[in-house]
Amino acid sequence: MVDIAAPGNAKAEADKKEFRKPSAEAKAGFLSDIVATSTETVSPAGKVFVYEGPLRLWHWVNAGLIVVLCVTGYFIAKPPPSLPGEASDHFLLGNIRMVHFAAGQLLAVAFLGRIYWAFVGNDHARQIFLLPVWSGKWWREVLFELKWYGFLEPTPKKYIGHNPMAQLAMFTLFVVPVTLQILTGFALYAEGQGTDSWWFAVFGWVFGVFGDNSFAVHTYHHLFMWVIVVFSIVHIYAAVREDIMSRQSLISTMVSGWRYFKDDKE
Ligand code: HEM
Ligand code: HEM
Repeated sequence: MVDIAAPGNAKAEADKKEFRKPSAEAKAGFLSDIVATSTETVSPAGKVFVYEGPLRLWHWVNAGLIVVLCVTGYFIAKPPPSLPGEASDHFLLGNIRMVHFAAGQLLAVAFLGRIYWAFVGNDHARQIFLLPVWSGKWWREVLFELKWYGFLEPTPKKYIGHNPMAQLAMFTLFVVPVTLQILTGFALYAEGQGTDSWWFAVFGWVFGVFGDNSFAVHTYHHLFMWVIVVFSIVHIYAAVREDIMSRQSLISTMVSGWRYFKDDKE
């Protein structure tokens, strides 16, 4: 088994680049210096270090917070039946809202940390934020992956980082909706704090985007939840499926950071 790239080792990092398939469309001005156009690999069987510690920690903390937010958010929209006795004795919905707000604020801080890591982390840390949309090769690989997921291609390609379709899905169905969720969530929170609060001074503008209609902000905040729920279901299915059917490790990679390849064929 070959160690293609150990973290922090400049020689190994250079070797890792050698294993990347040269792409005819890799150069597209200065952007190609910051956006990796292709992470397709022709490596022999071996392992490559891909996801750094902070990114992996963020992934699992974020996944946990998403579950808490979806469950508590669902109950905010559709409250459980009233309990007998004084509301102040059990304060059920109050506690559900409190957990939602705390998890929402943690999610936002963690997301800012993830954006920071896109600047200081390795190439793969930028993949979910920057898509090489100008690259025809990248789009052809999106299509190829779509066919592979649809059982229409017999042999999958090998990737060091995210495959192009995963990258596209992570941007459109996670990064964009979570950003909108954070903005609308903080706007609703600001409204709850009062229109004369500093929260409202910072996030009140979000209502303007939705026609100064608080109900619309609620509705979109609710709708984005379902986008994230659908993403999570498909994402977990794809992670398990690819772990079994692809030519590389998936779930253990998000735990240890190392990608293992199952064969040394191209
Ligand atoms: C049991 C649950 C989960 C499993 C097994 C899982 C597994 C994985 C794996 C294996 C990857 C790396 C894929 C690759 O190497 O191309 C990944 C990445 C990712 N997952 Fe999950 N995931 C889970 C839950 C979630 C949830 C709930 C979310 C959010 C809705 C999420 C969002 C992401 C994102 C955004 C990435 C990209 C990471 C990055 O580049 O920063 N995951 N996940
Ligand atoms: C993935 C992230 C999130 C999900 C899935 C989510 C989900 C939900 C849902 C479904 C509702 C009910 C909306 C309705 O029908 O009226 C809700 C309400 C709310 N959420 Fe979120 N939310 C998320 C993030 C956030 C964030 C980051 C904040 C910011 C603190 C936040 C603050 C709020 C507030 C203030 C309400 C209104 C509570 C009320 O009217 O009693 N949410 N959320």
